[in-house]
Amino acid sequence: MKAPALAGMLEEIRWGLSRPQKQLPSKYFYDTRGSELFEAITELPEYYPTRTETSLLKTQVAGWVTEMAPASLVELGAGSARKTRILLAAMGHGISERADQRTNQRTNQRTYAPVDVAGDFLRATAESLRVEDPSLDVRPQVRDITWDLDFVDELPTPVLFALLGSTIGNFAGEAAGELLSNVRSAMRENDLFLVGADLRPGAGKSIERLEAAYNDAQGVTADFNLNMLRALNRDAGTDFDLTAFRHRAFYDEGEGRIEMHLVAETDQEVQVPGAGVVQIGEGESIRTELSCKYDRSVLTGLFEAASLGIVKWCTDEDGLYAMALVSPT
Ligand code: AVJ
Repeated sequence: MKAPALAGMLEEIRWGLSRPQKQLPSKYFYDTRGSELFEAITELPEYYPTRTETSLLKTQVAGWVTEMAPASLVELGAGSARKTRILLAAMGHGISERADQRTNQRTNQRTYAPVDVAGDFLRATAESLRVEDPSLDVRPQVRDITWDLDFVDELPTPVLFALLGSTIGNFAGEAAGELLSNVRSAMRENDLFLVGADLRPGAGKSIERLEAAYNDAQGVTADFNLNMLRALNRDAGTDFDLTAFRHRAFYDEGEGRIEMHLVAETDQEVQVPGAGVVQIGEGESIRTELSCKYDRSVLTGLFEAASLGIVKWCTDEDGLYAMALVSPT
């Protein structure tokens, strides 16, 4: 890891571990192994969001995308190649239909710019898409999705931005609004922004079902959670004892969010470079993730605050998950 990145990482770790409720940033889940574990989570029987979103993409969203015929897709955050392919196919579909009706000389050129902090994983996905479709212009961007998205200025328009997998849920409090505003400032008039969001418990969705998605029987989510400590030991030089922490996840109804923690089973002392030893008492926890859940009115408020308005909306029959297509207002 480069020195400035390491300094920033250590700063975040020191800050998080000095809070009354200890916490670590969720983005550190996604080293190569963490990205693989997350892919495994998406295939678990209990983890309904990926499956539900994929089905909404095929049955509803593909039609919206074909209609808008974007030239570029900017995918924000780790995308499973499967969902990406649905969107790319829908883009290609719109363009080739137009070409047939006109001169036949139109190219089927589409640009795909995936943005993610997990560089290796991103490059691997980019490479497999290039192999599958050599005509696709793939421009991976290794960066944090909250950073400047100035690379978008170089892309053919209109641009479809996509924030799938309820990634927005990791941005609690003001961070969600800041993320939406950041995307909004990279958008031009005819661009659109597709957001997938996990919904709060309601008519067809029990709290038990929601909590089970974060407490799978096979323990893959527990491995994913613990893997963050392994990643930090390797990349930041900490010395967390992975055998001394246990996975815990629960839904907080008041806040409308899932919290994931790592609970110390015995008193722990952890070396944090530049901060000396951090004490973690028996039963004390480190919060590793907030996964906010939404409903249409909460989302509408967030969008409005970022000068965005919903143009299309859909959910599955059970009200598990929603997709919103928004445009600049
Ligand atoms: C990728 C943030 C949407 O919150 O459901 C899955 C991450 N954490 N299981 C989520 C996650 C534990 C996931 N997001």
